[in-house]
Amino acid sequence: MTKPVMVRGARLYGEGDPVDVLIADGVISRIAAEIEPPAGVELIAAEGQVLLPGFVDLHTHLREPGREDTETVATGSAAAALGGYTAVFAMANTDPVADNAVIVEHVRRAGEAVGLVDVHPVGAVTVGLAGEKLAELGTMAESAAGVRMFSDDGHCVHDPLIMRRALEYSRALGAVIAQHAEEPRLTVGAQAHEGEQAARLGLSGWPASAEESIVARDCILAGHAGSRLHICHVSTEGTVDVLRWAKARGTQVSAEVTPHHLLLTDERLRTYDPVNKVNPPLRTSADATKVAEALAEGVIDCVATDHAPHAVQDKDCEWSAARPGMLGLQTALSIVVSTMVRTGLLGWRDVARVMSERPAEIGRLADQGRPLAEGEPANLALVDPERSWTVRGAELASIAGNTPYEGMELPGVVTATLLRGRITAHSGRISQPGGGD
Ligand code: DOR
Ligand code: ZN
Repeated sequence: MTKPVMVRGARLYGEGDPVDVLIADGVISRIAAEIEPPAGVELIAAEGQVLLPGFVDLHTHLREPGREDTETVATGSAAAALGGYTAVFAMANTDPVADNAVIVEHVRRAGEAVGLVDVHPVGAVTVGLAGEKLAELGTMAESAAGVRMFSDDGHCVHDPLIMRRALEYSRALGAVIAQHAEEPRLTVGAQAHEGEQAARLGLSGWPASAEESIVARDCILAGHAGSRLHICHVSTEGTVDVLRWAKARGTQVSAEVTPHHLLLTDERLRTYDPVNKVNPPLRTSADATKVAEALAEGVIDCVATDHAPHAVQDKDCEWSAARPGMLGLQTALSIVVSTMVRTGLLGWRDVARVMSERPAEIGRLADQGRPLAEGEPANLALVDPERSWTVRGAELASIAGNTPYEGMELPGVVTATLLRGRITAHSGRISQPGGGD
């Protein structure tokens, strides 16, 4: 039995008067102005803090199996819990690829054994992410892993016939296809956003049209199939326009933006530091502004981290040889506070929407992103909005340290995370490593 917990003096969604929240048997059992702490309760002092539903990340790379030198289900789960997450979707571009029931079940079980966050494996759309042959989506959906999201992320499902079939199957399975939108013919040799910065540095360009053309095509395919489509890491102004158009005509399309595409721009390329290399690339400040506004408006549904750990030798090398990707789980909330809350684009209620409620809906998680109310599952994130912290890659829970925010002071600190009423992280420390109660 998990010890009962009481969160004292927090404001729900940062609104109204502070309340006490009593948590027992995995649910929120009572919310009141002042509750006498029952005997044996674990108290969390939360005066001045904001209580939110636990965050849900639709886009995490946990690197297990295959690259356990950069991240494992255990270390990635720890990073997630410290970042306020109670559920993550683990991308399929592992080695071997998660394109079959054995691998997705392994990842699911590993997540359960660690017990810090619900780990939902994403299944690959095509065998080996090769883009040529559909993977056995049905088998993965029916496996013990219960896969409900499929993606070749890292690669685009570029063949329109395969994409069409994947959308049709996923509809029958009640699943969603998450597309890494990148027309590969337009990004051969691409190293950075096609624009002034790339031209100045002599890096070959990754044009916005490579993203936008696939998003437009897939919205049309999903519309005709009556299927659900999710667009990963939206990075350009033009994609926002396409999404607006598709949503207006009733297409079931959802979209995510990463914290790094909200905050960072291709100005960063000046340093030539490959820590800034990511796919899709950092775009212009006009793009960053537009995606932030689209997130506030709901044209972009949610924030997803694209947490992408990489080994030192794969990042600390010349730009063209470096792998794309950056860490994101422990810094996501702070980047959202800095780009969306401090700028007045979002309130805390909206933060709950874009980091928890919408991703839970898109991922079809019934017990995540729930209202903060009595009787609801106690999947919670507690945030101190007044405190700030300085990012040190070496101190993050991930094995890899490739954060673009090294040395930056960021606003907003996740002070506690609870998964079904159990404290998984508190005051920057993991509770009960190895899981179990
Ligand atoms: O930057 C990225 N890194 N983008 C992706 O699509 C894949 C990811 C990775 O797996 O490293
Ligand atoms: Zn991707």
